[in-house]
Amino acid sequence: MDLWNRVKFVSKALLRSKLLLVAFLIVMNLGLLFVLHVYPASSLINSAAYELGLSKHGPFHNQVSDDPSRYTYMGLLTLPTSDDDVYFNATRLLVYRLIHHPETKSQYPVHILVMKGVDEWKIDRLRKDGANIIMVDRVRTEDLVDEGQSITPGSNRYEYMFTKLSVFEQTQFDKVCILDSDLLIRKNIDDIFQTPYRYTSPEALDTNRLPLFQKPDDDDDEDYQFIDNFELYGSSKEEFYPYLIAASDDRNPGHPTPPEPSDTFNAGLMLVHPSKLHLHRIKMIARYPYMYEYARMMEQSLLNLAYNAYGWFPWTRIDFSYNGVWITDEDLPYIRAAHGKFWEHDNQLFPSVLAAEWSQAFGEMTAFYNYESEN
Ligand SMILES: *[C@@H]1O[C@H](CO)[C@@H](O)[C@H](O)[C@H]1NC(C)=O
Repeated sequence: MDLWNRVKFVSKALLRSKLLLVAFLIVMNLGLLFVLHVYPASSLINSAAYELGLSKHGPFHNQVSDDPSRYTYMGLLTLPTSDDDVYFNATRLLVYRLIHHPETKSQYPVHILVMKGVDEWKIDRLRKDGANIIMVDRVRTEDLVDEGQSITPGSNRYEYMFTKLSVFEQTQFDKVCILDSDLLIRKNIDDIFQTPYRYTSPEALDTNRLPLFQKPDDDDDEDYQFIDNFELYGSSKEEFYPYLIAASDDRNPGHPTPPEPSDTFNAGLMLVHPSKLHLHRIKMIARYPYMYEYARMMEQSLLNLAYNAYGWFPWTRIDFSYNGVWITDEDLPYIRAAHGKFWEHDNQLFPSVLAAEWSQAFGEMTAFYNYESEN
């Protein structure tokens, strides 16, 4: 039972894709029978979901409610990867902008996922700032990928980025807008929560456009495609609906305004419907990093495969103004949340006015809390 399909003659795939898919399904089902009958204990699913088979409401349930009193913003604070924890300051500013700043404050609450091990004084400070704290276990890359799988060595900063996937566990919420700490909120973005769930499945997989990958142990350099295997997940496809993962197009420096639609989204700001069933699926996919760029961009690479536009669970495109990556001068008037390390004053990667905006915003926050504590 695999999560992929070998692709031959991709250029001729137009003619063959349907045949291949049917053949694949037959082979997959034969394989399933074999595994079930001969090696019942070798299931890849280490839970009761396997025994429950396709029955509803297994341990990885996907609930369907959509109640605005269960909407929230969510940030993430991980352990600092250096003494100079500027991300803590940035997280505070994010909270301030969502809770207090008149032009940007939200009608929805703010929760921060705090990784276990973060200093107690930082947690206290975030609480005083008005954030609700949710403690989460740290998730490292090696916790999710299969043993012996190689990954692209990323920067230290990325070490704990898979912890962000804990958002899918927060099923006390129906919609969560999860934000990276290096987002500067410039205008109110509450209307993001109006983005609807996806209730229905695409009619078919677009196998001609599904992303391709190679397997490191394959001498023939064949191309493969990731294909969902619902038997492996222990749940039918229908149980995964409705779902929601909405984000803005990823883009490059010097892009036009508005940016062109992209196959991939930027994971720095996402609107997500938390679901243990979806997390279960994501973790299955995560085991094989060669399917998703060897985790080059961590959770962003993983989620872009799991929710790619041509599979069973396409991501939902939202306006570029929600997440301003690689901001140009021309973008600037439209951007509601600017994405970058604007505290780096000598950084040439963004219009310098944003560095000024960031320090002004941070100064205003400091003044606000000083004033508050004096009264
Ligand atoms: C974080 O903000 C405090 C002021 O609240 C400042 O003293 C400190 O230098 C800042 N840290 C960094 C790494 O910029």
